[in-house]
Amino acid sequence: MSHISAPQGKKITAPQLRARKGGQPIVALTAYDYPTARLVDEAGFDFILVGDSLAQTVLGYDSTLPITLDEMIAATRAVKRGVKRALIVGDMPFGYYQDSAERGVASAIRFIKEGGAEAVKIEGGRKRAHILRAIVEAEIPVMGHIGLTPQSLLQMGGYRVQGKTMEAAKELIEDALALEGAGAFAVVLEGMPKELSRIITERLSIPTIGIGAGVECDGQILVFTDLIGLTFGHTAKFVRQYADVKTVIASALKQYADDVTARRFPADEESYALPEGTIVNLEEEHSQSMPPLGPIN
Ligand code: KIV
Repeated sequence: MSHISAPQGKKITAPQLRARKGGQPIVALTAYDYPTARLVDEAGFDFILVGDSLAQTVLGYDSTLPITLDEMIAATRAVKRGVKRALIVGDMPFGYYQDSAERGVASAIRFIKEGGAEAVKIEGGRKRAHILRAIVEAEIPVMGHIGLTPQSLLQMGGYRVQGKTMEAAKELIEDALALEGAGAFAVVLEGMPKELSRIITERLSIPTIGIGAGVECDGQILVFTDLIGLTFGHTAKFVRQYADVKTVIASALKQYADDVTARRFPADEESYALPEGTIVNLEEEHSQSMPPLGPIN
């Protein structure tokens, strides 16, 4: 795959992604650990989001709300070890920026210093623009995220497509413009009508990254486990599943368990053996040192 905006082998930067506006589509995915980040990076993706979807996809929480900054940072460090080229974006978790710009800046700095992220993402439009601006002023590139923002689950009363009325659509356009004005280098548009994301994409001078927002964004992102088919329960309409890894894993586990039960595993070629002749001496010595059998109770 060649979506490369940096010279081969060179790290992709936030300014380079920003400059991709209107050009070749930006290709992005989430990743949460070393092996998957390595695969995504080697496949030539432009950026990797260490998404707070980690909460549900890997850690088994039932929303993104409980995940902590420490959990996000640990995942980001693992991703960092597997990535050479893609830009690494750390997703700021719920409760670590909403209440003040100071907390937002402090959390973003931890993502950079401890996690090795090269940018952060925050959810929310106009009401979060001042926080986004403060983080940018602390020299950290920030990606915005509007539309269906999973951290607003309680306010939204469920995961619902946003911007479906004229009023709501106008609000989202204002939100997008506010984030651009505050210095975002890109903005994720999630769960909104494709006509609205097209208008936002046309109005902004920074790239839009769509997820459930139609094909006319400047780039697309999906959740890693959705793409490979390693999920449990409901999958959103916008997901295209490119593999069925859950079935592959389940079948491998069953085969292994069957082989162990039937003593087909390990085979001779999967076992270590003593050098020739040693076994004879060992068995002799062993039988001499065995105490005589006592009465069986
Ligand atoms: O956490 C996440 O996975 C996200 C999406 C935009 C992919 O925020």
